[in-house]
Amino acid sequence: MAEQLFDNHGRPLTYLRLAVTDRCNLRCFYCMPEEGIHYLPKKELLTFEEIQRLVTLLASMGISKVRITGGEPFVRTDLMHLLRMIRATPGIESLRLTTNGLLTAPHVKELKHLGIRSINLSLDSLDRQRFRAITRRDEFDATWQTLTQLVDEGFDVKINAVVMEGKNIEDLVPFVHLTEQWPVSVRFIEEMPFNGAGHVSTLVWTHQRILDHLRQHFPSLTKDIDEPHSTAFHYRVPGHRGNIGIIAAYTRMFCGSCNRIRITAQGVLKTCLYDDGVLNIKTRLREGATDDELRAHLLNAFAHRAKDGFEAERQRANGITESMSTIGG
Ligand code: 5AD
Ligand code: SF4
Repeated sequence: MAEQLFDNHGRPLTYLRLAVTDRCNLRCFYCMPEEGIHYLPKKELLTFEEIQRLVTLLASMGISKVRITGGEPFVRTDLMHLLRMIRATPGIESLRLTTNGLLTAPHVKELKHLGIRSINLSLDSLDRQRFRAITRRDEFDATWQTLTQLVDEGFDVKINAVVMEGKNIEDLVPFVHLTEQWPVSVRFIEEMPFNGAGHVSTLVWTHQRILDHLRQHFPSLTKDIDEPHSTAFHYRVPGHRGNIGIIAAYTRMFCGSCNRIRITAQGVLKTCLYDDGVLNIKTRLREGATDDELRAHLLNAFAHRAKDGFEAERQRANGITESMSTIGG
């Protein structure tokens, strides 16, 4: 029987977000620069065996939910093999993934067969031109095809849309209209400074401004129920099959109930999205640490967790320059 895991603030830790690659087949401007990206050499990524060992260990410590992220997870060779391994790990009750949908469609049936019920799809615009301007690639159709297929197959689909002044504000209302017939959750995300360049512009579209904008167009918008540990505040237009979520990722409204830890593509543990890495697990693994030693290192990190994303940011040695593609969101 797995133990329960808590941090130094009494928050249960149950959820691992695992970035399996830093590579991506899109170039979303809020995530990566257009050129000059230095991808990690393959040997810097955790191997499947290393990942499996870590997931098994973390599951024995109390982690029960895993989300695979990237970069784009399907860019990693043989991702399905890794998913099968994680799915079969005792103690892992829920396996999910976040994808941009470009390479996902051929795997939808097997994902379902594996018991994966929920997929987050990154889609910032319903308009081909705006999609291309944001992602710097003309790949709207591929993502759209994956979306329709996931909905047809009955997946619980969450669309992640980062809200950006001058880029996709025109999409907010159409996204809400999409929830009329489609049983999807559209989550509007505040833009964060993880764009690989480090310049931090002032956030224009805060969760409050997004909500005000939606209320102007949909006066009947009502508050929906939020699951425990949810990072999104949910709303619904009465009668619509799907709902809306607003994620205050920049204003950090949800730290008090945060149950998540992250392992980056290069094998570094983060106990907060805003910290700059608190334990290099890959180095420990490759130095030959035993499971007991790894467990002790992990517990030590969990016992020194920042209380919120502001504290984590203050404790960093350097300012934010990393790309979300190495962290996985
Ligand atoms: N700000 C907010 N969200 C971001 N994502 C990637 N980069 C950023 C950013 N700078 C989102 C993507 C993806 C999720 C994992 O993180 O849209 O859906
Ligand atoms: Fe790729 Fe996601 Fe980053 Fe876009 S946001 S470049 S889809 S990793």
